[in-house]
Amino acid sequence: MAELTPLDEKLAEVLGLAQAAQQATTHVAGMEGADAFKPALEKMKDQAAETERRTDGLIDTFEGRKTAIREKARETKTEAVDMMKTYLEGEEEALDGFEFLSMAEAGELCHWEIVQVIAGEAGESDAKTLADWAVDVQQRHVAGVRKAYLGLAAEEAKEMASA
Ligand SMILES: [Fe+2]
Repeated sequence: MAELTPLDEKLAEVLGLAQAAQQATTHVAGMEGADAFKPALEKMKDQAAETERRTDGLIDTFEGRKTAIREKARETKTEAVDMMKTYLEGEEEALDGFEFLSMAEAGELCHWEIVQVIAGEAGESDAKTLADWAVDVQQRHVAGVRKAYLGLAAEEAKEMASA
């Protein structure tokens, strides 16, 4: 397998996470009580797909390493999807789904910030430009997920009060 740079490895991870995020948003959109959040989840999914496209487009320019990077991305995706299945096993309520998304989206943000710093320090301007865009997108995802779980928590409290 080709020797990957630290930046290659991080790009593989964000690619895998963007792929897994599309599955996670679809899963949560199908959970109980998620109806009001479907448009927001759909938008997050579209942006994850765009992140995947843009990241894969950059990786495509890395001759001699792109196959190994994509392979590592698949591993990351599998691990992230397995984590979701473990966490949400037997869970039906959207609040649980958003709790999982709070971790997944924060993890994506963290990885993109790492890419941003490595690419910036290494003078890799294409990767830096992509990371600048993705960090912004991810900050909005983290904020959107937070808004959703706080809303659902308030609903839970109302149900508790009326029970
Ligand atoms: Fe995301």
